[in-house]
Amino acid sequence: MNPARQIAVAIISATVLLLCSGPVAGRFGQHDGDGDMGEELGFHPIVDPYKRELDFRVKRATPPEDTTSQKNQVICMRVSPSLPLPNSNANFTFGQATIHGWAVFYKSQHSMAFVKPKCVVPGHVLVMPLKSRKRILDMQSDELADLFLTSQRVQRGMELFHGVSSSMIAVQDGPDAGQSVQHVHVHIMPRRSKDFEENDEIYEELNNHDKGPAVQWRTKKEMMIEADELRQFF
Ligand SMILES: *[C@@H]1O[C@H](CO)[C@@H](O)[C@H](O)[C@H]1NC(C)=O
Repeated sequence: MNPARQIAVAIISATVLLLCSGPVAGRFGQHDGDGDMGEELGFHPIVDPYKRELDFRVKRATPPEDTTSQKNQVICMRVSPSLPLPNSNANFTFGQATIHGWAVFYKSQHSMAFVKPKCVVPGHVLVMPLKSRKRILDMQSDELADLFLTSQRVQRGMELFHGVSSSMIAVQDGPDAGQSVQHVHVHIMPRRSKDFEENDEIYEELNNHDKGPAVQWRTKKEMMIEADELRQFF
C-alpha cells in the first residue's frame, strides 16, 4: 500500500474508532493482503478491554438506493462480540420450524447463529436473518450485509473452535436449489482433509442429511451442550 493510502486509512480508522468505540487500542496498516480491496479501506484487528478481537470494517459508504442523506458517511460495523442472546425458552419462527433460544450461540443486529439437530459434519451450524425472509432476493441491503458479516464471524469462530482451516458455506435459495426451510439460512460447515472420499459428496449429504424417516436426530441435551460451549467461545 502506498504511503498516502496508508495515511488515509489511518485517519479514517481513527475516526471510526472515535465514532464507534469506547476505550480500545487499534493496530493500523494491517490487511488481509489479497491486494484487491475494492471499496474497503481497511480491516484492523482491534483488541477490546476484555482482550477479545473486534472487527471493524471501514468503508466508504455507497448511498443506499432509498436514501440520499447517507452520502459519504463512514459506516462502521462491529461484528463481534455477540449482542445479548435471547432467553433460553424464547421461540423463533424459522419457516415451518421453530428455533429455541437455548440453541442460539451468537447474535448480531439482524442475524443469529444456532446449532442444528442434524449435522453434515461436526460443527455444522446455521446463520439466519432475524426477520422472516424466504429468499436472499427478499432481503434489504443492511440485513444482507449483516447476514454475511455474521456468517464470516461465525465461520472464523467455528474454524478456530474445531482447529480447521477450511469451510463450506452454502445457501440453498429456493426449492429447486434444495431449500427445505422457507427462511433464508447460511450453512457453515467446517471442513477437514479427507472428510469425504470425494470432496463434493458433501453436496449430496447436505441435500439428504435431514430428510426421511431414517434420520438420527441429535438429542436436545447434545445440542444444548454444543451451544453452551460455543457461547463461551464467541
Ligand atoms: C416456546 O415453546 C415451548 C414448546 O416448544 C414452550 O414450552 C415455551 O413455553 C415457549 N416459550 C415461550 C416464551 O412462549
